[in-house]
Amino acid sequence: MFPIVEARVLGPNVKEFEIAAPRVARKHQAGQFIILRIYDRGERIPLTIKSADRERGTITIVVQAIGKTTSLLNELGKGDSILDVVGPLGKPSEIEKFGTVVVIGGGVGTAIALPTAAALRDAGNHVIAILGARNKGLVILENDIRAASHETFIMTDDGSYGEKGLVTDKLRELIASRGVDFVLAIGPIPMMRAVAECTRPQSIRTVVSLNSIMVDGTGMCGGCRVMIGNSSKFACVDGPEFDAHEVDFKVLMQRNEMYKESEQKAMADFRLNGGEEVKRVRGACANG
Ligand code: NAD
Ligand code: FES
Repeated sequence: MFPIVEARVLGPNVKEFEIAAPRVARKHQAGQFIILRIYDRGERIPLTIKSADRERGTITIVVQAIGKTTSLLNELGKGDSILDVVGPLGKPSEIEKFGTVVVIGGGVGTAIALPTAAALRDAGNHVIAILGARNKGLVILENDIRAASHETFIMTDDGSYGEKGLVTDKLRELIASRGVDFVLAIGPIPMMRAVAECTRPQSIRTVVSLNSIMVDGTGMCGGCRVMIGNSSKFACVDGPEFDAHEVDFKVLMQRNEMYKESEQKAMADFRLNGGEEVKRVRGACANG
């Protein structure tokens, strides 16, 4: 069992968990993820590690409740435990001295971009962060991102905080007004695709982190297959970060939609009977 040592709400349906997982914490590098399973019959879900504290032996993840398993997870709190945590998985982020880098976090993708932004800053880059959210209430981790970057721009779709517009509006402005050497974009697929199109004309190196469906996380099951250029790759072992200009976003979107119907059904059942399931999971935690 992996005990939850801290939990806090970051925004609507978004929660941060600090989990005791000393071996994962010791080996973690920015950009890597874990696969967790809350209980024995539970689904296995990938979650990128936001940070690791080697001394405390903990890792921190940020979870957006969008399906049954993430909703169940977000019902847990300090003192509860998670059955399995496997990781760190995936290749670490590419950290080099590029020059001026723009790190873009769309919605909850901000949590995933954070450790790489900090690592790029520590490698001597000038880091400009752009955070995008639909409205002020959905902006998360602003202070952490400000600490990890030299300049931070907040964009909201409705203009309720920062500047009104999409992350790509600010990116275009930055590309036009000063040199940009490298872009990292993490967030919803339409955002990552739009960022790739903004940087393609000038061939600015651009990296995205792909949130494909994953099962084993070891390259064996084929669940996370993505098309990069004309080759098939597995996001769990070849990624999750890839050259944005090579990613076939259409295939990624189609594959992520494959289980939509069963996910919706599981979510509907959870809305009806979720209370019982949460109690069962909590009971299992208490029994060790
Ligand atoms: P969202 O839909 O509210 O979008 C966040 C911001 O992204 C917007 O405010 C906007 O600035 C930008 N954006 C969105 N679509 C855009 C477009 N077409 N063009 C330009 N900019 C655009 O974000 P959310 O609700 O927090 O995101 C949830 C989605 O992100 C989920 O589908 C989740 O699976 C995905 N996600 C992806 C990753 C990853 O590793 N890539 C990680 C976490 C979540
Ligand atoms: Fe099975 Fe990647 S999750 S191959």
